[in-house]
Amino acid sequence: MIRFRPREPGACPAGEMQRILVTGAMGQIGSELVPALRERFGVDCVVASDLRIMPRARPSRGIYEHLDCTQAPQILELVRRYEVGTIYHLAALLSAVAEDKPHVAWSINMGGLYNVLEVARQYQAQVFFPSSIGAFGPTTPREHTPQVTIQRPTTMYGVTKVAGELLCDYYAGRFGVDARGLRLPGLISCVAPPGGGTTDYAVEIFHHALRYGRYTCFLAPDTRLDMMYMPDAIHAIIALMQADAARLHHRNAYNVSAMSITPTELAAEIARQVPGFAIDYQVDPVRQAIADSWPRAIDAAAAREDWGFAPKYDLAGMTQDMLAQLRARREAEKPG
Ligand SMILES: NC(=O)c1ccc[n+]([C@@H]2O[C@H](COP(=O)([O-])OP(=O)(O)OC[C@H]3O[C@@H](n4cnc5c(N)ncnc54)[C@H](O)[C@@H]3O)[C@@H](O)[C@H]2O)c1
Repeated sequence: MIRFRPREPGACPAGEMQRILVTGAMGQIGSELVPALRERFGVDCVVASDLRIMPRARPSRGIYEHLDCTQAPQILELVRRYEVGTIYHLAALLSAVAEDKPHVAWSINMGGLYNVLEVARQYQAQVFFPSSIGAFGPTTPREHTPQVTIQRPTTMYGVTKVAGELLCDYYAGRFGVDARGLRLPGLISCVAPPGGGTTDYAVEIFHHALRYGRYTCFLAPDTRLDMMYMPDAIHAIIALMQADAARLHHRNAYNVSAMSITPTELAAEIARQVPGFAIDYQVDPVRQAIADSWPRAIDAAAAREDWGFAPKYDLAGMTQDMLAQLRARREAEKPG
């Protein structure tokens, strides 16, 4: 296996470490994954990239490159220039947006992944692929959804996630690419806004609770879905990528979840901490149909057994921390 040394001595930790490329780095996950990787491996070891242009007031130090993942030569150029050994491929269209633009979603979600895997094959890079609970469908068992089960999603997002899981496994089996993935649930976070997923309500509700004291939810009150707080997701992503390959019985992708909750339950928990908070409902039929095709609670036993997945935040802990973080941000943003 070819191993490059970092070009600038001292820029990355000594030894075999190569740089890390993150695609879609300005999104909800990338906004927290990039700082976490930089803290762990060093600022100069992580190349953040996105289709979006970095704002003038850069949120963080470190290398940032414009990258359209549908353009293979652009990925190749960055991997060569920065001697990249690991690619966290986050760029994608999320479930609701993908349903609105299925052709674009296919092009970005599948085309981008194919390009990343091809470059990884040529340069022996490790790849992280974020799959989703959207990779399941209405014929999947909805309770305790097993690691290996029926996957026949009815959304373009889900189709690209199942095909993505298979393509990653193919590249692992056929070409020896070290591709690993998680089936992530809805992620709740306070740093960057969510990018058009079906579980976005679980983030919006916190902002509206603090700003208006009320929230109109686009999913029905009893819609039960898996969720996880972003710090747990970031920890899980890095833990999977660091795990001993010999211990991985699955690659693409491991079920992970920290809580299985409904809008009613989340609203009740927020109301405990934001007195007077109220929720009402105006159901969006498109997003409700997507949610109704997904599992209610997936089984993460394989992730626990193979690489020690152990989320810290439950509903109460996540709600408390989200509100504390958002309150601190609002205070900091106050003029004067
Ligand atoms: N956030 C969640 O709840 C969740 C849950 C399950 C899986 N995932 C998966 O995790 C990944 C990242 O999710 P996210 O929530 O950060 O998404 P996001 O929508 O917040 O961010 C995606 C980023 O990709 C960028 N992008 C879009 N097209 C691009 C292209 N052609 N080239 C390069 N960049 C492009 C966007 O500008 C955006 O910054 C996605 O694959 C998503 O399907 C997310």
